[in-house]
Amino acid sequence: MKNIFYFILIILTLSSCDENYKKEKIDPFQYGVASGDPKMDGVLLWTHVSVQDSTEIAEVKWEIARDSLFHDIIQSANTKALLENDHCVKIWVDNLLPDTKYFYRFKYKNETSIVGRTQTLPKKTDTVRLAIVNCSKYEGGFFNVYDAISKMEGLNAVVHLGDYIYEDGGGQKPYLPIIKKTGRKHEPSHNLVSLNDYRLRYKQHRKDSMLQNLHQKYPMINIWDDHEFANNSWKGGVDGHIGDKEGNWNNDKWNQRVENATKAYDEWIPINKNPNEPIYRSFQFADILNLNMLDTRICCRTKQASSNKELDAIAAYSSLLGDKQLNWLESSITNTNTIWNLIGNQVLVARRYLGENNKYIELDQWTGYPKDRARFLDFLAKNPEKNIIITTGNVHDAFHYKLLDGNDEKSGKLIAHEFAPGSVSSGNTGVKKTTEDRKKDSLDLVHKNPHLKWFDLIKHSFIIMEFTKNKAQIDFYQVSTIYKTKYTLKKAYSFSIKPKHKTK
Ligand SMILES: [Fe+2]
Repeated sequence: MKNIFYFILIILTLSSCDENYKKEKIDPFQYGVASGDPKMDGVLLWTHVSVQDSTEIAEVKWEIARDSLFHDIIQSANTKALLENDHCVKIWVDNLLPDTKYFYRFKYKNETSIVGRTQTLPKKTDTVRLAIVNCSKYEGGFFNVYDAISKMEGLNAVVHLGDYIYEDGGGQKPYLPIIKKTGRKHEPSHNLVSLNDYRLRYKQHRKDSMLQNLHQKYPMINIWDDHEFANNSWKGGVDGHIGDKEGNWNNDKWNQRVENATKAYDEWIPINKNPNEPIYRSFQFADILNLNMLDTRICCRTKQASSNKELDAIAAYSSLLGDKQLNWLESSITNTNTIWNLIGNQVLVARRYLGENNKYIELDQWTGYPKDRARFLDFLAKNPEKNIIITTGNVHDAFHYKLLDGNDEKSGKLIAHEFAPGSVSSGNTGVKKTTEDRKKDSLDLVHKNPHLKWFDLIKHSFIIMEFTKNKAQIDFYQVSTIYKTKYTLKKAYSFSIKPKHKTK
């Protein structure tokens, strides 16, 4: 009898431990809040609700106010966080005033999220200021670049040019010493393929306090690049070393992977888009700036040539943007009467000479798609008064190239400027090399690329672009390190452009 008593006691103790374990408190808003895709009269608000029971339909209340203490709530409503959307909540709020700061928060049961700040686009303004970032690999280092931007005041929005996450399982050789220093390892530790894989990687990023702070403070305008899917992807498949591990992708498998990656992106990124809509889109900042965000990866890119010889064979019909997107871009710029046009793009437009074998052609960049590149450069050359500036991600090195007509990098006529920030935390090309090799690379770059105005192969950086009626000011800022969270910030390079006006 005594034994039975002890047995029951043990069972009760174990089950109550189990209950306590289940009831361990989780912050339902552990991934913070975010806003994105601002318009003059609306903005998208985002949060995620961490629920105890994954099947729960979580009732969430959202509120948006003119003040951070929520004395002046202008709109609020209830919504649901559903398992089918990984319990992410996205709300498009309209009927807002232009160029206005708003504060927002979410409520679930008795818990309230942190307060986010956002702002609508201006209808009338003298100045537009944007931060430009790209390539944030979690295990590459701390997100000090995000931190530095979140501490700046006076921006209209943050533009992310893609590679917000990386799909690899991590632990690649160049990153091992960094992982040892920072403890930042990719989760999951295999290449992302399933919907759950991609969701887990977004969760890992959104637990990062520096990224959370940035999302909390500014609306973000995102575009994807290849690593939100897989390395060097194109619309029908994946090329390159990371894809090899998953075998040869037939179309069904690739389409399923794209569907998984797209769904997780749409859930976790504060973007205002329906799942089946193209991601390329534009934003108008008063009569100052028209921002066009391109998709050079997933919607329309045909397969990259694998050699210069193959490129000769397919050049006449291969396409980076597709005619529909190119038509859209040209009409967006032609039909918008802003002083400046900025194009957010993932791959390098400028031709650069990287060595004897490359002969100015990089097969994954615009030079690998000569038909679209020629049409694009022709459009730039014919529209000088549209004051088009290009900002490019993907390359991991910071640079400023002049784009010249006639494929003549020595004496061609200047038709536009192209600026790329260094990465947030992905390995910049110079980091993997010895100081000697880096010096040689730098000398090579300078000698062989007379259209290269400035570059940096090592530092992690971002760009602040400021547009007024009379000037576009481009400032590159570098963080001193990403291997510890203490860093200093330095303005490394500045360039200004005067607008051209239509001659009557
Ligand atoms: Fe990248």
